[in-house]
Amino acid sequence: MEFKNLQKTPLWTAFSKLGQRIFLPDGIFYWSGRAKKESKLNATIGTAYGTQGDLFGTDDQTWTILYVKKVAEQFKIPPNEMAEYAPIGGIPELRQTWKDWIAYKCQKGAKIDVKPYLTNPLITAGVTMGLSMASALFMDPGDHLILPDKFWENYSQIFEVIGQAKIQYFPFFARGDFNVDGMVDVVRKSLQVKGKAMLLLNFPNNPTGYVPSPAMYKQIADKLATLGDEMKKPIVVLCDDAYEGYTYDENAATYSLFPHLVNRSAFLIPVKLDGASKEMLMYGGRVGAFTLGVHPSWVSADARAVLDAEINNKLEGYIRGTISNSNRSAQYVVAQLLIKDRDELLKQRAASVALLTKRYKVINKLLAEKPLPNASVDPNNGGFFLLINVKGAKASDIADKLLKQEQVAVIPMEAPEVGVNAIRVAYCSVKESDIPKLVTAIRNVLTK
Ligand SMILES: Cc1ncc(COP(=O)(O)O)c(C=O)c1O
Repeated sequence: MEFKNLQKTPLWTAFSKLGQRIFLPDGIFYWSGRAKKESKLNATIGTAYGTQGDLFGTDDQTWTILYVKKVAEQFKIPPNEMAEYAPIGGIPELRQTWKDWIAYKCQKGAKIDVKPYLTNPLITAGVTMGLSMASALFMDPGDHLILPDKFWENYSQIFEVIGQAKIQYFPFFARGDFNVDGMVDVVRKSLQVKGKAMLLLNFPNNPTGYVPSPAMYKQIADKLATLGDEMKKPIVVLCDDAYEGYTYDENAATYSLFPHLVNRSAFLIPVKLDGASKEMLMYGGRVGAFTLGVHPSWVSADARAVLDAEINNKLEGYIRGTISNSNRSAQYVVAQLLIKDRDELLKQRAASVALLTKRYKVINKLLAEKPLPNASVDPNNGGFFLLINVKGAKASDIADKLLKQEQVAVIPMEAPEVGVNAIRVAYCSVKESDIPKLVTAIRNVLTK
């Protein structure tokens, strides 16, 4: 495939060498796709077929993928939806319905219609794979990844250890809220030094539990769009939306930053990374989505479909060369849930959100009533965690003491170079009635 349209866009400048080089060859999946439509005899893909009769010793001549009945019985879905490979970019029903799902959330939350600007989502093996795909396609060794100084530890594995990016931190908070100016300073520097910037934002946040207000979202988006227009260099903004939908107070935006970044500056390239892991509480299903916001000025309306195909080809090229395709049975289940009964899905999930809301309220009430010694809690209003900054001892020593003395387990986070020394408390996995014990144990250890 030629990438004539893509080469005219800021996306091309933002790509890594691999991003510019990669493509999906017309290989086995291409020929087997054609075979499904055009052939009488299909001898393309390495999936074994036979008749139902061959399988079960009957006269049934129905042509089927060969499968093990005992295995199929464990899945309450059609055998082919469990046994077949998924297409490289995901099953079409899921891609379509995930796009609708994004558009629905953006419309409901931000009152912004993003649908015309979305690429067809690529189905990934969870958000993690979306992140590693972004790292490979946008970052060369030494490129800058811009992050607040408190972040999910796996980012450093993906971008720094594997991708060899250089992480540029800015302090997460200023004056008790998100540090927009700190973020803009680092993005500006990256644009000056590297000619492009890659920013990764995660709300609701792991580890802090912070979620911006809608007004803060607008500020973040306005500043980035202005900077893009001023510098005329690409700013890729990865929105890690793993915890979208988990917000617990009225100030927190109930939706993603993504819609505020779409159709803004031609140099702003928003990428939405989603996952069924938390959104549908299917952690092990390994279903995620990678969706890009295309700026209408990049190509003429006539060329848009070709541009989308070029983008799709590159992303599929990467998926084919890494995991080939994602778990089909889980894709099928998620597609069915979203197509047939999204409202019921949300209604049933609401029970879990309500449970977490109660825990959030209890833990924050206890921490506010009697502040912890030598500690401060970061602003939090969503997600699965909160973060307690600790002083006077290393966070790992405190976590160790907590385990030994109180049999209470938390995650220590230490980054002395940026002054981070904190413990992450995953209240999402603690019974509401145990939260007072959890807080008392932390208090005991911090007091001694
Ligand atoms: C911020 C963040 N992003 C991504 C992930 C991973 O999501 P997935 O399980 O869909 O790969 C997690 C999981 O802990 C997370 O906290």
